[in-house]
Amino acid sequence: MTRLFRMNEAQPRVLDETNQGIIGAPEDRPEGRLKVSGQATYAAEVPHENMAHGVLIRATITRGTVTGIDSKAAMGMDGVLGVYALDRFLRNPAQGMSGEAPEQPGARVDYLGQPIGVVVAETFEAARHAAQTIAVSYDETPGAEVDPATASEVEVDHEEHGDLDAVWSEAAATVDKVYHTAAHVAAAMEPHASIAEWDGDRITLHSPLQLIRFNKRELADSLGIPAENVRILAPYIGGGFGSKLGLSPDAVAAAVAARDLGRPVRVVMSRQHVMDSVLRRSETRQRLCLAADADGRLLGLSHEDLVSNLPGEGFSEPTAQATHFLYAGTHRRYRQEVARIHRTPAGSVRAPGEAVGMMGLETAMDELAETLGLDPLELRLRNIPESHPEEDKEFTANSLGECLRRGAEAFGWSERKGPGERAEGDWLIGMGCASAARASSIVASEARVTLTAEGALVETDMTDIGTGTYAILAQIAAEMLGLLPSQVQVRLGDSDLPPAAGSGGSFGALSSGSSVFIACQGIRETIAAKMDGAAEDLTLTEGKARLGNREVPFSDLIDTPLTETGRIESGDTGKTHIAAAFGAHFAEVAVHRWTGEVRVRRFHAEMSAGRILNEKTARSQVIGGVIWGIGTALTEEAAHEPRMGHIVGRDLANYHVPAHLDVPQITVGFVEERADHANPIQAKGIGELGISGAGAAITNAIANACGARVRRFPATPDVVI
Ligand code: MOS
Repeated sequence: MTRLFRMNEAQPRVLDETNQGIIGAPEDRPEGRLKVSGQATYAAEVPHENMAHGVLIRATITRGTVTGIDSKAAMGMDGVLGVYALDRFLRNPAQGMSGEAPEQPGARVDYLGQPIGVVVAETFEAARHAAQTIAVSYDETPGAEVDPATASEVEVDHEEHGDLDAVWSEAAATVDKVYHTAAHVAAAMEPHASIAEWDGDRITLHSPLQLIRFNKRELADSLGIPAENVRILAPYIGGGFGSKLGLSPDAVAAAVAARDLGRPVRVVMSRQHVMDSVLRRSETRQRLCLAADADGRLLGLSHEDLVSNLPGEGFSEPTAQATHFLYAGTHRRYRQEVARIHRTPAGSVRAPGEAVGMMGLETAMDELAETLGLDPLELRLRNIPESHPEEDKEFTANSLGECLRRGAEAFGWSERKGPGERAEGDWLIGMGCASAARASSIVASEARVTLTAEGALVETDMTDIGTGTYAILAQIAAEMLGLLPSQVQVRLGDSDLPPAAGSGGSFGALSSGSSVFIACQGIRETIAAKMDGAAEDLTLTEGKARLGNREVPFSDLIDTPLTETGRIESGDTGKTHIAAAFGAHFAEVAVHRWTGEVRVRRFHAEMSAGRILNEKTARSQVIGGVIWGIGTALTEEAAHEPRMGHIVGRDLANYHVPAHLDVPQITVGFVEERADHANPIQAKGIGELGISGAGAAITNAIANACGARVRRFPATPDVVI
């Protein structure tokens, strides 16, 4: 039986019932050793007998139609098994949650590098060689537009609250500036790769996908088969960051070829393939207008942005997402333009919206503080809203003020001086801060928990994309069932297991964790009933059950395994509450007086995200996010070729993620919080909180160091100077 819990007013709690102190503890990842010693088998490494190898064929034009694929030469080569023009091929990885395959354009080409076929051979080398001999003919559409700034097809969306124009004229201080952020790629360490194997009309796909319950349906839809004939396995995933939310072209290519050849087929994308044809985060142009009274209280604001995607794509970077709820101020205007251009499809990359939108908002806040002659930290403290500023909703918890104050204390914010006032030789030193914010909510999730006398088993199709899911689900079950985390085995990443939320949008841990909690509650009730008591009075610890003055070892209580399935659904709380995590970022930088080089010297992040489920994995998430913030501020740009529209620098040598020497010691503090109305475990998402706002703390520190206000990111030396 599945125990369903829909979020509403009355909620179960974790620590009201148990008090082992396991949840929250900085437990190691149980699979960590396997990963660092090369023993964890990632998708492309799963051994298969008689496996064939596929290499994608990709479009060499920006826009048009494929009129022919000449495979004669390839088919005559040693070891070549087949060439498949993939007319049911994926143009764009799905955004992951619909369960439908994305639009399948047949032979239509929408961007340079789009996969249009696959060559399969006995070896990878033979397939790669053969792919180079394929002659594709096209009917090219001239004049494909690739520049968002000049695109002729632009869709506009807008939203208005109150009367911004009226308060603008009364404001004591205003800021009206334009900011630019670069296009980014997810750059997950593990490239996209799939192995497909058919058994009759059933397919097993090994592929590192973030949302396998949805990906299973996408693959079924692509292949025209029922979803129950698809099994996806993704026990280990080498980073996703949004790029693996949806099915990618390697999966469909492997499936199609494997079905035809009657043998397993592996398709591994090269780094260049991934960069060209998985997805990118849209570049943005943002105009921020802020109006405040003489005390620095926001009267109103506007956030207008220009982003881009392919014609017809449903996703647009939600640039203003945090602007809606982060600060007070009644009068508001939003306007988004989506330029339809022929570049690599745009999609979700870690913290879609906040990651780049907060570069605009948090820089504008700094500029407003400067205009008002107010400490930028103080300006933020004065504008924390009591409740959602646009909708009739309460925050499940909002510790932004506490994070700003405590973070400032930990960082030494009071030492901050004015531009040019602190120097060490040719280096000018400055400090900057920014708020962090990222919304997170429940996505329906199921888990099955089995308790035996020896320990527990947790099973769900949830994924661990490097975030720590194995660790935290073991901790929740251990806490609830009176076990040690090492006595809990967690099985993830198999679509035959109960369907979970998957990993994305900072909803994974809180959703899947809640489902495990609910299943364990069921088991506790069963045990209490066996002891003729109520679950509230039951204590489970060290393999024993205690109720009143009775104490019974599990071995006497559990003759057959106790199994429960828990399911969490979002219910109604979204109508009355907004669940968002908050935090504060503090950076100290040195800016070289003559070259404009920027070095980040110190970074502190003070975060609040409801109940912290594992202090170590949560900290790692924040650190990883902050590192990406450094990239956003200083190094990362997916530059596009201006005529053909493709990404140049399609590898990690040319796409500059921060390297070790770019990253200083990053310290992280947590403000304890219980988000009662968020979910039964009172947790909020933390996977994307660290990146949100982080880069702005750095560029604000640049302004404090040398007085140069950067409005175009990344702030490479040529921009700073
Ligand atoms: Mo996230 S960008 O939803 O993996």
